[in-house]
Amino acid sequence: MNSNGRNGQEGAAWSRRGVLAAGAALPAARAGVIAAVSAAMSVIPAAGAKAQDADDAGKKAYRECIACHATEKGNNGVGPSLAGVVGQKAGEVEGFRFSSPMKRSGIVWTPENLDKYIASPQDVVPGSRMPYSGMQDPAMRAALVKYLETL
Ligand code: HEC
Repeated sequence: MNSNGRNGQEGAAWSRRGVLAAGAALPAARAGVIAAVSAAMSVIPAAGAKAQDADDAGKKAYRECIACHATEKGNNGVGPSLAGVVGQKAGEVEGFRFSSPMKRSGIVWTPENLDKYIASPQDVVPGSRMPYSGMQDPAMRAALVKYLETL
């Protein structure tokens, strides 16, 4: 029991020394790899990372819509599916009963119009039936509209 314990400690000491020795040989190689990786990262993904952030923010913002709006075509709930909504005429999703004000609005859902509508639905389509009071944060709206463009 005792001798086993001692052996164990010795073993640990040896392997620690082994790791240290191996580590001492590494830094030059590792520094090379790190320099190469960070050079690559500083060139390409700055824009990519931003786009990814916007994606995530848009998806997150969409949580305010998802209870009423599905993203699959043909799946209408309390609100119409928003699949392909960007560029579409208001009030024309098949199989959804829109209010008359929405149908008569003549709006085309450009990114600009969507931004205004999401900020304040009742101001853009007075009398429409969407029970949503509006999203105040312009950055959140911008990210959301970007997300809608992907549907
Ligand atoms: C509580 C339910 C509800 C929520 C939450 C909601 N909507 Fe709606 N939405 C509706 C209803 C109902 C309509 C149909 C309005 C009408 O006919 O007047 C609608 C209509 C729309 C339309 C018009 C679609 C078309 O084809 O003309 C857009 C665009 C829209 N909503 C976007 C959103 C976005 C973006 C959000 C989240 C920020 C959201 N809605 C949140 C219920 C909701």
